Amino acid sequence: VQHNPLIGLKGYRAKILHFAKATTSPKDDYCYFEDGLLVTRDGKVIFTGDYKNNINQYDKLDIQDYSGKLLLPGFIDSHMHFPQTEMLASFGEQLLDWLTDYTFPTENKFADYTYARAMADVFLRQLYRHGTTSAMVYSSVHKCAADALFEAAQKHNMLLMAGKVCMDRNCPDWLQDSPQTAQRDSAELIKTWHGKDRLHYVITPRFAPTSSEAQLAVLGELAQQYPSVFIQSHLSENHNEIAWVKSLYPKHKHYLDVYDHFGLVRQGAVFGHAIHLEKDEWQCLAERGASIAFCPTSNLFLGSGLFNLAQAEQHNIPVMLATDVGGGTSFSMLKTLGEAYKVCQLRGNQLDPMHGLYLMTQGAAVGLGLEQQIGNLNPGSDADFVILDPLFDELTELRFKHHNSPQDLIFALSILGDDRATVATYIAGKPVYQAARQHN
Ligand code: GUN
Ligand code: ZN
Repeated sequence: VQHNPLIGLKGYRAKILHFAKATTSPKDDYCYFEDGLLVTRDGKVIFTGDYKNNINQYDKLDIQDYSGKLLLPGFIDSHMHFPQTEMLASFGEQLLDWLTDYTFPTENKFADYTYARAMADVFLRQLYRHGTTSAMVYSSVHKCAADALFEAAQKHNMLLMAGKVCMDRNCPDWLQDSPQTAQRDSAELIKTWHGKDRLHYVITPRFAPTSSEAQLAVLGELAQQYPSVFIQSHLSENHNEIAWVKSLYPKHKHYLDVYDHFGLVRQGAVFGHAIHLEKDEWQCLAERGASIAFCPTSNLFLGSGLFNLAQAEQHNIPVMLATDVGGGTSFSMLKTLGEAYKVCQLRGNQLDPMHGLYLMTQGAAVGLGLEQQIGNLNPGSDADFVILDPLFDELTELRFKHHNSPQDLIFALSILGDDRATVATYIAGKPVYQAARQHN
């Protein structure tokens, strides 16, 4: 039997843009192939480069022609709430009332496995149509909802990081776990899902106000027992929340110190928001190697405040962009990038579009320690990528009539774009979304 070296190879021709390495100057350190070739096999990237100079070594390669379209690594959304999918755009409140009036009643529906399993499919469909291929996700307090989400992601061979929310006080009693059940359920979920296929577990205390000291203590023990699991929580999002934490935990130096005291601030820990930090908190995050999820649409929608990206980066704290659906208002990482730009404008800084793109691809992967798998198109990485059409409507056709730099393409997509720009999304080399509309 003759061996055919082309078996399983698949090529994609497009404008290709990614960051091959970790960098502190993404503005300059991107790789761009105006006429590029991506080759994949068995769910992995095996080549990324210029089309014309390299196509001859792949005689008769099965090529998908996306010429003129933009091929990027799949987006990474580093903070979102799966059970809040159905409550986007809930009117009028800031964080604490919003949680009471909308969030807790909605999350209660996820006690029902069948309901959660159906919603997991909706949630993943929304991610894929927006070009997001990996996410770090809060489920509800119910173990069965986390099972449902992991099952749905496993079906698509997706790299998903997720965890059961833990909360044992200051929320409705019908939605509370306990230190014991939080520990038992989280441990069982770790044993079932962590490291299975591309799935990762995330220990998930909702935030300091809804966890007792006893609960944070058992979660800290669990984190020590399983050093490769991620951790996620919320931090300094809203002034009333911060005052509440101070009254609940009067002995602690600051909000972050509550988590730090229980061993929950470390590499692989991602804190959502971190808007109103004290000097010591910036330092503590930096010393521990923890990361921040910057959620601009949520911070504006809930009136929480303006994240200080420049300050985080001065402290060398990894920052990742995130939607925070459903406090956030869109599944689109492009829109999220556009809103991040506006938040930085109000802070007196200009967010370079390449910098922003880095925070939702390679920069996020580096912060999570996953850059061997996701965030880039390097040979050996998983073939998770998205094809965008910069000319997806009448307006963008006008906007891009003349030659455009990759910076300009990304910037205008971040301000004008959303899921209408997505042509196709691939996970581990397989299409998980293809637009119905013809993109020519
Ligand atoms: N703080 C505690 N829970 C939540 C939540 O669900 N969303 C946001 N944005 N902040 C929180
Ligand atoms: Zn959140």
